[in-house]
Amino acid sequence: TYVVKEECIKCKYTDCVEVCPVDCFHEGPNFLVIDPEECIDCSLCEPECPVNAIVADDDLEDKDQHYLALNEELSAIWPVITEKKPALEDADQWAEKEGKLELLER
Ligand code: SF4
Ligand code: F3S
Repeated sequence: TYVVKEECIKCKYTDCVEVCPVDCFHEGPNFLVIDPEECIDCSLCEPECPVNAIVADDDLEDKDQHYLALNEELSAIWPVITEKKPALEDADQWAEKEGKLELLER
């Protein structure tokens, strides 16, 4: 499966959602996740994200391993998103920042 990680938090550019052939992106207030049970590993979404928030689970760095479980957990409770929408306000300012996980809204 592919996984959405920290870079997406407080940005949510949503370029990724329209290319997914199986509609497996789910949307929360300031983050998107991929349902690992639906993702077919087509890789189409990966290059769409302007902040490189999406990676294959096999390519997750050790420090990011926990994002797989987070994607699984949140995709079970957040609704599916299939259409692009405007990025969050100030997304460009947050794009390069680290330590955003504590700002994740559920
Ligand atoms: Fe959807 Fe393909 Fe991305 Fe998986 S890899 S989330 S199936 S676009
Ligand atoms: Fe997030 Fe990147 Fe998609 S910022 S919404 S994973 S295009």
